[in-house]
Order: sequence, then structure tokens, then C-alpha cells
Amino acid sequence: MTDMKDRLALVTGASSGIGEAVARALHGAGCRMVLAARRRERLAELAAELGDAQVVALDVRDADAVLDALQGLELDIAVANAGLAYGTEPVQAGNPAEWSEVVDTNVKGVLNVARAVLPGMIARGRGDFVTMGSVAGRQLYPGGTVYCATKHAVKAIYEGMRLDCAGSGVRFTTVDPGMVQTDFSLVRFRGDAQKAAAVYAGVDALQPADVADALLYAVSRPPHVNIGEIVMWASAQASASSVTRRPAGS
Ligand SMILES: NC(=O)c1ccc[n+]([C@@H]2O[C@H](COP(=O)([O-])OP(=O)(O)OC[C@H]3O[C@@H](n4cnc5c(N)ncnc54)[C@H](OP(=O)(O)O)[C@@H]3O)[C@@H](O)[C@H]2O)c1
Repeated sequence: MTDMKDRLALVTGASSGIGEAVARALHGAGCRMVLAARRRERLAELAAELGDAQVVALDVRDADAVLDALQGLELDIAVANAGLAYGTEPVQAGNPAEWSEVVDTNVKGVLNVARAVLPGMIARGRGDFVTMGSVAGRQLYPGGTVYCATKHAVKAIYEGMRLDCAGSGVRFTTVDPGMVQTDFSLVRFRGDAQKAAAVYAGVDALQPADVADALLYAVSRPPHVNIGEIVMWASAQASASSVTRRPAGS
């Protein structure tokens, strides 16, 4: 394992779920943290708990704000994790305003972060750029067309950046989890806690710390090793649309 001590690491979407767990794991391994998301107060709470983290309140959809906030940082690691989905309606019943938010966050948000941080990493000849993909970037499931399309795009961006930055010394990794128990479903179902809980009923979903553990493994390999793609499932998942649940009450 490479020594992670004092490496400067950015996590977008660090105010919740997977991003928060990744921030804890990287900090626990010795990194200095930059925590980014829109909810400043949640970032401030995590920063206070970690003790020495920097808070950057930003919306990854805002290309100029992302550039202003991030381009001056000498980052060793950038985790483009911020993302969301809305609804499980079929395309023909979709809401264009929600499509825009999901596409702009999941796709352009990653590009905005990449544009801000890759030039510095390339100039320094090293760095880890990690995209939070999903098994939804590899498979489709009913009601997931727009979200799956964005995660397919994230996988394409990961592959494209590898080519764009070939020979630069920057490593690229995509972490593609299946079902993870976070606020993702609460956001997806627009705050309906009952619908969100049903997603995880009768199944031991992946936990955010499981994903953070895999990501930490990737970025802590020696410089000549690049873990490119990590696909991880809850053991009860056979595919993005096949989950075996325990019967209710068992
Ligand atoms: N949960 C799953 O089953 C699962 C599976 C595979 C992949 N993923 C991916 O994992 C990533 C994290 O999701 P999660 O499961 O941890 O959900 P979560 O708990 O809802 O966290 C989402 C994070 O993204 C941030 N975010 C959303 N829109 C943003 C914006 N415009 N600008 C900046 N930050 C924004 C949120 O922070 P603010 O609201 O404070 O801005 C929050 O910190 C997403 O990319 C998601 O697609 C999730």
C-alpha cells in the first residue's frame, strides 16, 4: 500500500452516503480532505468531526464555480461522486426539469470537476481521478432509463479521460456499485421515506463504508498499478434488476 499520509483528497457529494464514507476512509488513511457539496452545514459537521478538513460549498452543475473553487488546489486524489436520480417513471412520463438536473449533475458535474482538477494533476505528473459510476452504467433496469443513461455516460467519460490523459501519470478509476443503502432512494422518491425504505427491504444492501473500502484499495496501490474498474454488488443482487429478498417478517 502507498503511504496516504498528507495526500490532498477532494470528495464531491461528501455531505451524505457514499461520499461521506469515502471522506472518512481517506481521512482515516492519512489524507487531508476537501469536502464538497451544496449543503455547507452538513460538510461543516463532518469537517468538525474529522478535525482538519476544508469545506467547499458548491453545486457541481456550475462550471465556473467549480473551476474557481478547485483549480488552485494541489490535489492528489479527486473523487467525482456527487449524483442523484429522480423517479422510476418511464421516459414517456418523464419530467424534463428533473432530466436536466440529473444529467447536469451526474454527467456535466463530473466533466466540470475534471476540467478544474486535471490540468494541475497533469502538470504535477500524478494524481488519482475517481468517478462514482454504478452498475446502472453497465446495465439497464425498468424505470431507470435516464439515470442509467447518465451512468453509461460516466463510464464513457472515465474511458475517454484515460485516453485524453495517456502518459500523464494520472490514474483513472471508476467504482461501480450495485445497491447501496444511503439517502439516494429518499432523493429519488422525492422525500417519500416509505418508498425509499422498500428499496432496501429484506436485503442486505451494500453499505457506504463497503464502497469506501474498495475505493481506498484502488487509490492506495503503488504508482505503477492502476485499478481501473471496480464493480461491486450486494450479494443478493444477480443483476441491476434482480434482487432476492428475504420474505417479510423473517
Ligand atoms: N446508493 C446507491 O445505491 C448507489 C449505487 C451506485 C452508485 N451510486 C452513486 O453514488 C453517488 C453518491 O450517491 P449516494 O448513494 O451516496 O446518495 P446520497 O446519500 O443522496 O448522496 C448524494 C450526494 O451528492 C451530492 N450532490 C447531489 N447533487 C449535487 C450537486 N448538484 N452539487 C454538489 N453535490 C451534489 C449530495 O450533496 P448535497 O445535496 O449537499 O449537494 C450528496 O452529498 C451518486 O453518484 C450515485 O449515483 C449510488
